[in-house]
Amino acid sequence: MSAQIIKAQDNLYIHSVFIDKIGLCFNQFIIEVNNKLTIIETGFRSNFNTLSENLRSVNLNPEMIECVIVPHFEADEMGALPEIQKVSTQKLKIYAHPICAFALNDIFNAKAKPVKDNEVIKLAEGVSIKFIHITHTHQWDCMVAYWVERKILFSSDLFIQQGEFKGIKSDNCMQELIDAVEKEGYLPSMQYFHSALNKIAENEINLILPMHGSGLMHYIPEYFDALKQLKL
Ligand SMILES: [Fe+2]
Ligand SMILES: [Fe+2]
Repeated sequence: MSAQIIKAQDNLYIHSVFIDKIGLCFNQFIIEVNNKLTIIETGFRSNFNTLSENLRSVNLNPEMIECVIVPHFEADEMGALPEIQKVSTQKLKIYAHPICAFALNDIFNAKAKPVKDNEVIKLAEGVSIKFIHITHTHQWDCMVAYWVERKILFSSDLFIQQGEFKGIKSDNCMQELIDAVEKEGYLPSMQYFHSALNKIAENEINLILPMHGSGLMHYIPEYFDALKQLKL
């Protein structure tokens, strides 16, 4: 296993853990405004110490995590939530799809707030996050997050690519995106996948940050079109 953290933009950091055994990386996205942190995807519970150390290496303090966004109920997306609940000295706010929020509250006593489809919540100055439900692209409790001011899509398990995180890629990654869907076969329903893509595409997107794989810029309309054509 290896891990890295990069500053992708002002106020935006990406932490990525690469598990070589399976050739897949797991990303967490950290938005920092006035020393308060929002984290999208918690990563695995067993990687929380690594995440904390790497946050400290760029002068971010895990105690300052104030907000957690959980795209769905799975170990890589919410596993470290109990550790964050332990270390955060803030009044922690947790946002999730209603079914996921119910599970987080039942299991972790998390007091997660269920978000409505297309609800926009202003987390800080210049940080408004829209929550888009994409039910059944994985399970029934899925959503993606969209940073309205920056037009950034945090796409969770959509637009994934195998391999290490290589920053924000501006070259054409079409084949990697198609391979991930065709070869990995991880999507339960192409019908729901296509309707999720149509729904997400209603938003203008400058940058896609998937949970697995590198960031994607340029070619974004082409990526949507190609994935919508896929039939399995
Ligand atoms: Fe997942
Ligand atoms: Fe995932």
